[in-house]
Amino acid sequence: MPRRPWIVGVSGASGTPYAAAVLRALLAAGESVDLVVSRASRLTLLDETRIAFRDAHWRDDLREWLERGADGKPGTFTVDVEGDRVRHWSAGDLAAGPSSGSYPAKGMLIVPASTACVAGVALGLSKDLLQRSASVTLKERRPLVVAVRETPLSGVTLRQLVALDEAGAVVLPASPAFYAGATHIQDLVDFVAGRVLDAAGVPHGLYRRWKGELGGGSGADE
Ligand SMILES: Cc1cc2nc3c(=O)[nH]c(=O)nc-3n(C[C@H](O)[C@H](O)[C@H](O)COP(=O)(O)O)c2cc1C
Repeated sequence: MPRRPWIVGVSGASGTPYAAAVLRALLAAGESVDLVVSRASRLTLLDETRIAFRDAHWRDDLREWLERGADGKPGTFTVDVEGDRVRHWSAGDLAAGPSSGSYPAKGMLIVPASTACVAGVALGLSKDLLQRSASVTLKERRPLVVAVRETPLSGVTLRQLVALDEAGAVVLPASPAFYAGATHIQDLVDFVAGRVLDAAGVPHGLYRRWKGELGGGSGADE
């Protein structure tokens, strides 16, 4: 089977645990992943995890990141990032595979998406590989999921989100819900990550689905 990855773009909005949860779940589902980490997201990653993501040591840094829980605890998960199932492209590399529509890809998930990234994709700026990959995903009519994280949202960003919706993207605010019985930060993170995977049609067991009964997620009946 030829390799057909999901492109995962991590931009510089708060929420690197969302990206980690999506990446873990894609790999657990047997999917291939092409990772693009924006320059700004290295700051949020550093701020939120103390991990300095280095292009030259990306596999080591990715493993440390993905093995960390949303509460910051190292070694919470075990994740295999070896082999060709995971590729990393530098955000400045505009000659990278995902910058062309002829590069095979299933689609792209931007998790989390900054408002700057939303603007860049809505306007087709392609200022880096992440934005270029998103523009390519739209023009090739492949699924694009944009997990925007900002609050409150300005009218400018709201209009740009409408433009992305009209262009065919799924606009998915990083907005955790409390009906799935969350008791830990990881549960709230996994809810958002699970909704991203739902939008991409990738099976997962990240959160407890609504069963049509009030109180079903509270754990009171268990
Ligand atoms: C610690 C930190 C947290 C940030 N959180 C957000 C955020 O939640 N949402 C957002 O839109 N921008 C946020 N920003 C600002 C973006 O990083 C900034 O707009 C950047 O230009 C985004 O670039 P990128 O889209 O190329 O990654 C944050 C910046 C820092 C340093």
